[in-house]
Amino acid sequence: MLHGPNLNLLGTREPEIYGHTTLTDVHQAMEARGRADGVLVESFQSNHEGQLIDRIQAAAAEDVRFIIINPAGYTHTSVALRDALAAVAIPYVEVHLSNIHAREPFRQHSYFSDRAAGVICGLGAYGYIAALEFTLSRLRDH
Ligand code: DQA
Repeated sequence: MLHGPNLNLLGTREPEIYGHTTLTDVHQAMEARGRADGVLVESFQSNHEGQLIDRIQAAAAEDVRFIIINPAGYTHTSVALRDALAAVAIPYVEVHLSNIHAREPFRQHSYFSDRAAGVICGLGAYGYIAALEFTLSRLRDH
């Protein structure tokens, strides 16, 4: 799981938009759900574009099977992060807590959606669990 900038503030950051669940809560729920299926879920959050790119490049060498990513503000700006995902060719699900299509026009374009296995937005923290359920079913099928 990859989390972009400001998601470390989840729980206190604009809770009317992003909810009260913290990133630690999300990590714990995801790790527990993965463990139940014998799948290791790792989480990485960074406020820095280059660190996220380095983490994606490292994932290729670690045989990571799937990525669940909320690129946060980089969703709408980062060709470089998009290129990193394309370079490693690891399938990914794009998650947003808020419904980006119901917000400001600049949030309605994503550099990630056209290459994603799927996109979930507007379901709050549940979106991460939904993405993981999909991922686990994909891993079972392949
Ligand atoms: C977000 C939506 C983005 O527009 C915003 O910049 C974020 C969070 C979401 O999860 O709803 O930081 O990705």
